[in-house]
Amino acid sequence: MQNRMMVTGAGSGLGREIALRWAREGWQLALSDVNEAGLAETLKMVREAGGDGFTQRCDVRDYSQLTGLAQACEAKLGGIDVVVNNAGVASGGFFDELSLEDWDWQIAINLMGVVKGCKAFLPLVQASHGKIINIASMAALMQAPGMSNYNVAKAGVVALSESLLVELKQQNVGVHVVCPSFFQTNLMDSYRGPTPNMKAQISKLLEASPITAADIADYIYGQVAEGVFMILPHEEGRMAWKIKQQNPQAIYDEMAVLAEKKRKKSKT
Ligand SMILES: NC(=O)c1ccc[n+]([C@@H]2O[C@H](COP(=O)([O-])OP(=O)(O)OC[C@H]3O[C@@H](n4cnc5c(N)ncnc54)[C@H](O)[C@@H]3O)[C@@H](O)[C@H]2O)c1
Repeated sequence: MQNRMMVTGAGSGLGREIALRWAREGWQLALSDVNEAGLAETLKMVREAGGDGFTQRCDVRDYSQLTGLAQACEAKLGGIDVVVNNAGVASGGFFDELSLEDWDWQIAINLMGVVKGCKAFLPLVQASHGKIINIASMAALMQAPGMSNYNVAKAGVVALSESLLVELKQQNVGVHVVCPSFFQTNLMDSYRGPTPNMKAQISKLLEASPITAADIADYIYGQVAEGVFMILPHEEGRMAWKIKQQNPQAIYDEMAVLAEKKRKKSKT
């Protein structure tokens, strides 16, 4: 391990905090995002925390920008040891209201952005026997109502990570997937959906989180060191996932009640 990490969506929120957590261990960071002002701020903070690195604008929807970033990582850092596919956007809305364009947008960033990040960086992590960390969500496991396109994209990230875990084991490439519940970041700035007051409902859930993005980054750091594949940073998320595995119907019943409540609220 030579301590080189690439993070997508590093200009804000969890991506920034992951970069800072590893920077505190003296790592070199390749920081990418579509938000260049955010990236400059993250690099400054990374240096103050004891790390170093470079920034590069990269839209995860564009595979050529990701392969360009991988080339820059080879040229500037001599390779990469850990790839963090973190960039993502928020969406909401009931299935009958979501347009196919809402679906395309969500899948292109939150699912295909991760697929493309894994593909572009695979040769580098194969060379370093490194790790891939994909940021999914509890939405991948619990399928809350009123956000089916987000749920599907994140479930895809979990399925991709499970596939890579077994395919890359023989090559000594580690794979981890992170499924946080809601936490406060700038995620709602990117919100897209047909039901405007659903944005307010989701924003409230983010604000109510008992833990911060920095807490989550710290938890991920510890779990990756322990070799845990599926990382669930929220205590309530771990409990809910346990219940779902034992008694999925109990969760479906709860979600159906929640769906009715959400539908009523979204009409008021
Ligand atoms: N905040 C939450 O409650 C929550 C819960 C579960 C999972 N997540 C996931 O955590 C990840 C990080 O989100 P966050 O909460 O820190 O939000 P955030 O908005 O603070 O950070 C996301 C970053 O991704 C960048 N981004 C968006 N689209 C991009 C694109 N096409 N290409 C490159 N970068 C792009 C944004 O510019 C932003 O800097 C996302 O994948 C999100 O789905 C967040």
